[in-house]
Amino acid sequence: MNVLFCVFSGTGNTRRVALRMAEELRALGHTASFYDIKKKAPMPETEGFDCIFFCYPVHAFNAPKPVTAFLKKFPRGNVPVYLLRSEGEPSKLNDASGISPKRILKKRGYLVAGEFIYVMPYNIMFRHSDGMAARMWQAAERRIVRDARAVDALGGEVKRVNLIRRAAAFALRIEHPAMPVLGKTFHVDKTKCVGCGACAAGCPCGNITMENGRPKFGMACVGCMGCAFLCPVDAVRISLLNPWRVNGRYVLEGTPATDEEVCRYLHKMYTRYFHESEQL
Ligand SMILES: Cc1cc2nc3c(=O)[nH]c(=O)nc-3n(C[C@H](O)[C@H](O)[C@H](O)COP(=O)(O)O)c2cc1C
Repeated sequence: MNVLFCVFSGTGNTRRVALRMAEELRALGHTASFYDIKKKAPMPETEGFDCIFFCYPVHAFNAPKPVTAFLKKFPRGNVPVYLLRSEGEPSKLNDASGISPKRILKKRGYLVAGEFIYVMPYNIMFRHSDGMAARMWQAAERRIVRDARAVDALGGEVKRVNLIRRAAAFALRIEHPAMPVLGKTFHVDKTKCVGCGACAAGCPCGNITMENGRPKFGMACVGCMGCAFLCPVDAVRISLLNPWRVNGRYVLEGTPATDEEVCRYLHKMYTRYFHESEQL
């Protein structure tokens, strides 16, 4: 199969998972190409692809707005498609993040053959320990090996979402109109900013421009956290969300946390997810 991966990723977790899935599919004899979902980027050419992955992080139990906007314009077709997501916690509420993409894709002629969701470290809220990050990555890799085999057989599972979870996700869609307003109030700590432009270069929404050596935030923010997370000197301040700011890449190849070291927050949920992954 010739597989196309369309990826939206704020801080790199989703991209990493998608790249690992592509590696696994290549090992099974398939080819994989990548396309970044970015504002103003021309639509990808879909001719010649037998299968398409749409990859994105869960944002407030939903798909990020640039992803749904991209899908609405995506060329019509009827090849099998998969949704691949990364999330910060193994919560069933996150299953709702496939609802809008599935509805849009159906209208464009596609059938979603499967949904895959992997827990990766939080890029907002609080910083997971590197041990937790490494254990998450270990679990994701095991799941990717299993899921690639399902794709190889054009199999997969589509999530069913109950009414309560749908309602919770619907309520949090307020994030979509709220983030551009909040994002406009992001700024940098002038005593720290070195004007390197990493925030502007990494913003998938093209929302940051450099003016007189300092970033200027526009009205197209979707709260992906790329700017705050990737700033090499932790200079970006994210307004009301600042207490939840997470800065700096995780080390995923380190020593995985033991069961005792699994974070107290949602301890049971994470432990269950890790144990299930280790059975694979
Ligand atoms: C605005 C925002 C909202 C988020 N909401 C959720 C959520 O509802 N559930 C969850 O498990 N993780 C949530 N996360 C965490 C991300 O889904 C997670 O860290 C993901 O791996 C980030 O992927 P990326 O690096 O590709 O952007 C949220 C992150 C951001 C920035």
